[in-house]
Amino acid sequence: MPVALGRFGLPHLDEPAPAAFGVYRHEHTRTWSDTIAGFDGFVFVTPEYNASVPGPLKNAIDYLHAEWAHKAAGFVGHGAHGATRAVEHLRGILAELRVATVSSQVALNVFTDSPSSTPPGPARSPPASTRSPPSTSSWTT
Ligand SMILES: Cc1cc2nc3c(=O)[nH]c(=O)nc-3n(C[C@H](O)[C@H](O)[C@H](O)COP(=O)(O)O)c2cc1C
Repeated sequence: MPVALGRFGLPHLDEPAPAAFGVYRHEHTRTWSDTIAGFDGFVFVTPEYNASVPGPLKNAIDYLHAEWAHKAAGFVGHGAHGATRAVEHLRGILAELRVATVSSQVALNVFTDSPSSTPPGPARSPPASTRSPPSTSSWTT
């Protein structure tokens, strides 16, 4: 069953107690808790923002604790580079919450894997500056 984060309207984490205590003051937290507690496993579909997990996803994960534990997760990432770095960060976050993650993942490239990508053709590619090999020259000269 798809769970769209936006539907829950979670503000920046505003519970007074850490989620590990399992004591929730706010109705939005209880609704989110009931939803996640009802699943045996998850497939996270996530973009990558600045080489990591988008803030709202991390925030939503941080809201809960026991609800995530001892479950399994897989990943579908989408980004300019397949969101592989975001998924790697997500694996570390979920390990802290005792979620077992499968090793395989779907890595979608927004420039080549989306039928609605515009404009078509070579213009889909990211600028050359983002494809160049890493260089330290600007910091060492
Ligand atoms: C602020 C910002 C930072 C981004 N950083 C990355 C990035 O580091 N790596 C990447 O592969 N894509 C990056 N992207 C591209 C998005 O991951 C990609 O467009 C994604 O499909 C957007 O999904 P959304 O529309 O659900 O936010 C970035 C996009 C934005 C807006």
